[in-house]
Formats: sequence, structure tokens, C-alpha cells
Amino acid sequence: MPAGNLIIKNAAQVATFSGRNACRGAAMAELQVIEAGAVVIEDGIIRAVGPGRQILPRFDPEGFNVIDAAGKAVLPGFIDSHTHFVFGGYRPEEFAWRLAGTSYMEIMQRGGGIANTMAATRAASRKALVESGRHRLDAMLAMGVTTVEGKSGYGLDLETEIRQLEVMAELDRDHPMDVAATFLGAHAVPPEYKGRTDDYIDFIIERVLPEVARRKLAHNCDVFCERNVFSVSQSRRLLRKAKDLGFKLKLHADEIASLGGAELAAELGAVSADHLLQASAEGITAMAQADVVATLLPATAFSLKELYAPAREMIDNGCAVALATDFNPGSSFTFSIPLIMALATLHMGLTPEESLCAMTLNGAAALGRADTVGSLEAGKQGDVVILAYPSYLFIPYHLGINIVETVVKKGVVVHNGVRSDEGTIKKKRGLPC
Ligand code: NIG
Ligand code: FE
Repeated sequence: MPAGNLIIKNAAQVATFSGRNACRGAAMAELQVIEAGAVVIEDGIIRAVGPGRQILPRFDPEGFNVIDAAGKAVLPGFIDSHTHFVFGGYRPEEFAWRLAGTSYMEIMQRGGGIANTMAATRAASRKALVESGRHRLDAMLAMGVTTVEGKSGYGLDLETEIRQLEVMAELDRDHPMDVAATFLGAHAVPPEYKGRTDDYIDFIIERVLPEVARRKLAHNCDVFCERNVFSVSQSRRLLRKAKDLGFKLKLHADEIASLGGAELAAELGAVSADHLLQASAEGITAMAQADVVATLLPATAFSLKELYAPAREMIDNGCAVALATDFNPGSSFTFSIPLIMALATLHMGLTPEESLCAMTLNGAAALGRADTVGSLEAGKQGDVVILAYPSYLFIPYHLGINIVETVVKKGVVVHNGVRSDEGTIKKKRGLPC
């Protein structure tokens, strides 16, 4: 039986968005739900999606592995389009300081925060970073994530930035997860450049960025555009150079102060602007007009006890919204997809359908990959999630609880949870929780 040939049949529902671009505005609610659905994957690529009785007669099951998904919902693999999953060390004491009233930016200005993880990452061996990175990818895969973005930005020097990106390249090769690497050399000003932010930007532009481009170690370039970190003009200078070198652009924008990061993302034609808690009305309009995906990170707002980004205003003004975990050792220590979808629906005004769009097709668009992943339709990669329950509605309703049973990558089962046998569930265990 060739690996990558798989039929999933009898699904209670196959639920997916469709298209090769992000869904914007009202289109984010246009979820297709196919009852008694089936998905046929051949050589890792989806050949057909639809009601089983219509599409299955076209294929000889002899050449396929077959999964009976009776009682289960079948969805596209989730896309976590904003994470910082390669890092050394941990920062639990900072969590406690924030609980006691010190802000994230105060901790950063005192030399903690990103600089704290920078020191631990510089000290970590490549092997240690690969090992911890692999464990994190395993856990994300079990949550149904089939494509993840990962950022550098904890080296802040040539050697360690490159090492972080090489670790992601190795994991992309060796792990079932697709890893989209983003160069975030402008994540913070390292101690050796304290007070010389422009010199640090020059160093990134002249020394690091060309090396990353030459070795094709990253697809995207990102910057932390924030008051007391990198200004709009410093960010513009860096991102223009990155664009010239062929990188897709992303920004940490308007997270704590409303600086005009959303407007800058629109001006430069970025694939996404991320965080956006303080995005202005003009910035929201500009992103909608320039097709910039607004990537919202509710777990960061939750963890920092900030107000959530104005998601409803963005969707109602025609933006494409994506959701991501922002998994990192400081502001958002989570890779729980169901937690993100619960926060987005309960606190940001997204409907369950919009939150699913944001976690799948729009996440793919935020990586410039909506032509190959993010939805279940003929011609795309066979990346599929099978839930232990019959509807996508169970995800945000199960607050932070993982209900993913089976994960398929390019037509191959790469994760099978304990609840894989429907008969076993009914006879011995009942529903999982
Ligand atoms: O997206 N805001 C900047 N960067 C990360 C946090 C990184 C860290 O604190 O280690 C973020 O929240
Ligand atoms: Fe981030």
C-alpha cells in the first residue's frame, strides 16, 4: 500500500473553507459542512472531497489505507502561523512578577524578557535546541497542527540567529510538521548594542539578513515594531531591505502602543501584521485594502491581562483575520489550539466558524501558503485532523481540552490518540470527557 494513499469515509461531517487565498470579512463565516463526508488522498495530495456516496465510487479502495470516521468531524490540519518555539531556558519568575504588578515592558527594560531568553539560547547547544524543538512539535502535532511558523530572535547575534534557523530547517526536514521559518533578528536590541538601536539595525541589514537570504534559511522577515524597541522608521528600513532580498514580510505591530504598525504593514505589502491590540481604525482599513492578514494572538492578551484585539471591527471592515498561539517562553506559554479558539469566540466576538477559518485557511494565507494547505480541497496537501466528536463546534466549547484524535500529514497518519477505536470508546470508555 503506497504511503500517502488514504481514504477517510463515513465522517459525521467534513468541515472546511475553500480557496487559495484568505477569506476576508463576511467570507470568514462561509464554512462548508459536508455530512456523511469523505476525503480521498493520493500520493499525499487531496484528490476529492465530498459526500462519500458521490465521490467514493470513483476510487478503488484496494490501493488505499481506509479510516472509518463514523461519529467524527474531519477538518483541515490547523496552521499555527505565529510562534517562537525554538528557545533555551524558561521564565517562570517573570510570570510571577507580572502577577505582582510589574508590566511586560518594565521587565524588558530592566534587562529581562527577550534578553533573558537570548542569554539562555546563546548558551544552548544545537542538539539541545533540536531536542526541545522536537518535543514541542510533537505536542503541537497532537493538537492537530500540521504547519507551524517559527521565529528566530533569541540569538540577536549572527551565530545564534543562524543556529536557531538551522534548527528549524533540520526539524522541517526530519519531523512530519511543516516548519515555516521567520527571521526575527530585530526582536530586541541586545546588550552589546544598548543605546545604539540604529547601529543594530545596520548590523542586521548588512551582516545577518544577507547571510540568511544566501543560505535560504527563512521564508519571512519579522520585526518587533514597538515603542522603546524598534520604531516605525527603523522597521521600515529593515523590512524594505528584506523585501528586496525576497522575504515575505511580517510585523509584531501595535501590540502595546498604537504606533502605526498596521499602516506600515499595508504600505509594504506584508503578508501579515500580528498582535494589533492597539491598531487604529485607519490601520484596520489599510490592512483590509492591502490584503494584509491580521494575525491575532488571544493567549498573549490573556496572559498579559491586556484588552483583546478588536477582531470584530476588523472582520466587519473586510479584514482577513488569522489566529495563532504566539507560543513563546515569556508572553504566551501555550500551544493549545482549543484554548485559542475558546478565547477568540468567548472574548473577541468571533463565531466558531470564523475562528475555524482563522485557524486554518487564513493561517495558511498569513504564511503565503494558502495555495497548498489550509483547506480540504482537490490539489492541496492531504493534511487532515479527525476529532473524537461529530462537529467542529466541540472545539471552542471544550475550553482548552484537546479533542483531536487522529492527525494525517500528506496522507499518512502521524498521530493517533488513545481514542482511535470508536467501538472501544462506546463499549469501554464512553465519550472521552
Ligand atoms: O510576540 N512581543 C514580542 N515578542 C513575543 C514575546 C517574546 C518573549 O517575550 O520572549 C511576542 O509576544
Ligand atoms: Fe510573537
